[in-house]
Amino acid sequence: MSHDTDAELEARLAEQERFSPPESFVAQANVTDEGIYEEFEENWPECWEQAAALLDWDEPYDTVLDDSNPPFFEWFTGGSLNASANCLDRHLDERGDEAAIEWIGEPTEEENRTYTYRELHREVNEFAAALKDLGVAEDDVVTLYMPMIPELPIAMLACARIGAPHSVVFAGFSADALATRMNAADSEFLVTCDGYYRRGDPLEHKEKADEGLSGVEHDVETVVVDRLDDDYDHPMEANHHDYDDLVEAQAGMTVDPVSRDAEDMLFLMYTSGTTGQPKGVKHTTGGYLSWASWTGQAVLDIKPEDTYFCAADIGWITGHSYIVYGPLALGTTTMMYEGTPDYPEKDRLWEIVEEYEANQLYTAPTAIRAFMKWGSQYPESHDLSSLRLLGTVGEPINPRAWKWYYKYIGGEECPIVDTWWQTETGGMMITTLPGVSEMSPGSAGPPLPGLDVRIVDNDGEQVKPGRAGYLTVNKPWPGMLRTLYRNDERYIDEYWRTYSDVDSDDPDDWVYFPEDGAKISEDGYITVLGRVDDVINVSGHRLGTMEIESAIVGVEGVAEAAVVGGHHDVKGEAVYAYVITEDGYEGDDAMAERIIEGVNSAIGPIARPEQVVFTPELPKTRSGKIMRRLLEDIANGDELGNTSTLRNPEIVSEIAAKVKND
Ligand code: WTA
Repeated sequence: MSHDTDAELEARLAEQERFSPPESFVAQANVTDEGIYEEFEENWPECWEQAAALLDWDEPYDTVLDDSNPPFFEWFTGGSLNASANCLDRHLDERGDEAAIEWIGEPTEEENRTYTYRELHREVNEFAAALKDLGVAEDDVVTLYMPMIPELPIAMLACARIGAPHSVVFAGFSADALATRMNAADSEFLVTCDGYYRRGDPLEHKEKADEGLSGVEHDVETVVVDRLDDDYDHPMEANHHDYDDLVEAQAGMTVDPVSRDAEDMLFLMYTSGTTGQPKGVKHTTGGYLSWASWTGQAVLDIKPEDTYFCAADIGWITGHSYIVYGPLALGTTTMMYEGTPDYPEKDRLWEIVEEYEANQLYTAPTAIRAFMKWGSQYPESHDLSSLRLLGTVGEPINPRAWKWYYKYIGGEECPIVDTWWQTETGGMMITTLPGVSEMSPGSAGPPLPGLDVRIVDNDGEQVKPGRAGYLTVNKPWPGMLRTLYRNDERYIDEYWRTYSDVDSDDPDDWVYFPEDGAKISEDGYITVLGRVDDVINVSGHRLGTMEIESAIVGVEGVAEAAVVGGHHDVKGEAVYAYVITEDGYEGDDAMAERIIEGVNSAIGPIARPEQVVFTPELPKTRSGKIMRRLLEDIANGDELGNTSTLRNPEIVSEIAAKVKND
């Protein structure tokens, strides 16, 4: 690797807008035929049989796509399969002794754990037997509230084995968030843990889970994984069960994988939307697993012999699809890292890549921007030559960060896939195919073959290349969400109503709207501009401004609040809260602290406001609508947009002055 300074790198790469996939990569890539785009278009929807063919089916499906009742599209109908059998059992003969999961714990002096496919299969079976014993029946929703410990994927696969959908709640979410999700799903089972490590210190988790449980309206059986030392023991109540005891009691037990209909729910994942109430995204067994597998092999180039590293958290969809289901269905070795990239040193990730000889690295732009800020000396002190492919997900990546990643992590020999997708899409949608297409920093690339993605205006008409518009998906795909849990109407309202003829039975009249803005180049490369709804993206974590606002107005002394996302160099976006206090309350530091704490306890630390700005009024239109656009301009220090439609234009400069002075 040469040693350009940042400035030299910039100068050398700045002009370059397109990068060809490295020949050494193409020579071995899973997908190399550029004819795939045409082939899939001509052979749609049968092209998706290629995805289904990556799985083992108990019963073959009879219909690829049933589009008779849009937007309730069904895929691979008539077929049945089990996700856990696809991720474990079928690999035992050939790969039983190969590593399925390489787990790297946080305290560095601790033993890391390797689970071979056989070992993982064994523990999943034992825990599946334990869950059945606890009374978990097919279709019962089991909530999993755990950090990055092996018992999380084990519990997911155990649920899948017995046909019980899981609902994973990110461990960084608060007790309230857990309770909301358990209540919404009527979930009577919880698997959690005593705590975990963060930057070398033990962090309490069970107390948070208990507090959440106290807000659950029905009885719950709880399983507790022991992650911390005995020094951190917790009182266990009658309906709390120790994970190790349960598994030990089932030693050697096997549970036949339940044959699930392709359209049966595999899992539920709550995500943020426009309203304060999280949306329960429903994913199915056949379509989702096919999608995670097909995209995993076509885009991440996963092969069974790889050691594949996705640095996301399993508590988000990226971890579901690309740490657990996709990689394990493909029989590869998937890595799981419990800690943060800067502990004990800022080279932790590179140390891990070197030690495990990771072949792929899939992470978020926010992490890359942090690495870039820390400096190239950290990756340069490690041998990263095992890497063959790099990926990013979760937010737009700026060309500068892209080029830094390309040079300092990939050594200019790894293609980068910038993958646009969402919790709802189940897996990747817009990205280059790394063995086929040229890359364009800052642009995700063309839609995957077989997808009809357009950039349209308010009326649904396609906009000219280079112009900003709204992203739509005009044909269904196997990995799509099927509905919002127990709320078909909200499913239609949130994703379809904007651009569809909702009275039509013709599937062509139904258009999926992901709520992202985008533009497209002459040759079909798509640059995603970001959300156009009230969702913000902090460090690649998706948060609803309404959820944060309702947490803030729940704080004593707060009369009204408006939350927006402002640009942040590392996080992408940061939370800015504009708050009006009630009479008799002072907008002082103590109040700001209480507000931050209120957000912490209602949602979690990821949603903490970067700045709390007290103001006597919020800028409102004459009809009483808050002008968020102006609040964003203020947060960003941008020139203020048009204030002429405001009822109270004078307030804008007053707030702007406050933000500057803080
Ligand atoms: C954003 C994460 C630009 C987008 C997998 C989307 C992206 C939201 C990209 C979904 C990308 C994701 N470029 N923006 N490559 N990937 N996004 O549900 O706004 O947590 O709607 O799924 O993240 O976030 P979610």
